Amino acid sequence: MITCSAPGKIYLFGEHAVVYGEPAIACAINLRACVSVEVASSGKITIDAMDKRANCSSEEFKYACCAAQIIKKLFETDFGAEITIRSELPPRQGLGSSAAVTVSTIKALTQSLGIELDNETVAKIGHKVENEVQGKASPADTFVSSTGGVVLVEETKTSHLAQLDMPIIIGATGVERATRDVIASVSDLRKKYPSVVSDVMSSMGDITRFGEQKLAEGDLVSVGELMNINQGLLESLGVSDVTLSRLIYAARTAGALGAKITGAGRGGCVLAITTNGKVDHVTQAIAKQGALALTTAISSLGLHVEA
Ligand code: MEV
Repeated sequence: MITCSAPGKIYLFGEHAVVYGEPAIACAINLRACVSVEVASSGKITIDAMDKRANCSSEEFKYACCAAQIIKKLFETDFGAEITIRSELPPRQGLGSSAAVTVSTIKALTQSLGIELDNETVAKIGHKVENEVQGKASPADTFVSSTGGVVLVEETKTSHLAQLDMPIIIGATGVERATRDVIASVSDLRKKYPSVVSDVMSSMGDITRFGEQKLAEGDLVSVGELMNINQGLLESLGVSDVTLSRLIYAARTAGALGAKITGAGRGGCVLAITTNGKVDHVTQAIAKQGALALTTAISSLGLHVEA
């Protein structure tokens, strides 16, 4: 049996805009998904995740199943497999749980078949899987999950920025949503108001470029301000909602330097950054609103084979 694990992620800037070719900055976090694979020469693909067992006709485990189908096609091979998923990442909450499961599944399956792939190649195959399942996806989630660290995602390349040491507080609403549906609603809005939505996307791109500069200068006050402006633009795309806004304002009132949604939105999670002295205040303010508050940090550890 081969077991691989990969981190979840948060977006400091640029989710949704990145789907339309604008840059984004995403960071791996120290919450991980873990996938074990036992390959057989024939038979079905069976998934066991969090006390549920299913085969590939189940909607629920479509990322792992699609990953297995794409590996079969790419390497012209057939196999059966028992795939076991364990995760610290709440699913469908915008923390990159599906990307972490996807890249861990690809790595564990290919290793089991004796195929050596580097993490960037796994990320590219993972991007194909996400495109297939979600309809449209940026390369950000699978790249960050595969390589770890702080990543600038641009239209034609992805690069690592300097590692950041700052407390990150996540507020998970527990409201699950399908990334595919939120992406489709933004696409509909863009079709209806092309020039308006293009301007919003390009402003988000500008925020990411400013953000990159402010991160390099270690100016977290400006990073927080830019996150707040980014949130205003996400709001304009209709991907925030009243529950998320309550968490965001509670975090800001408790002393967060910046707070915004992370990931697709419409449920899922908010993200706040703050100074070390205010972590407890911000965490408690988020928890008081009924969300699961998680204090986490940026992780430089990407996809890897567990010993
Ligand atoms: C989802 O985690 C982030 C989106 O930008 C979609 C993507 O980048 O594929 C909404």
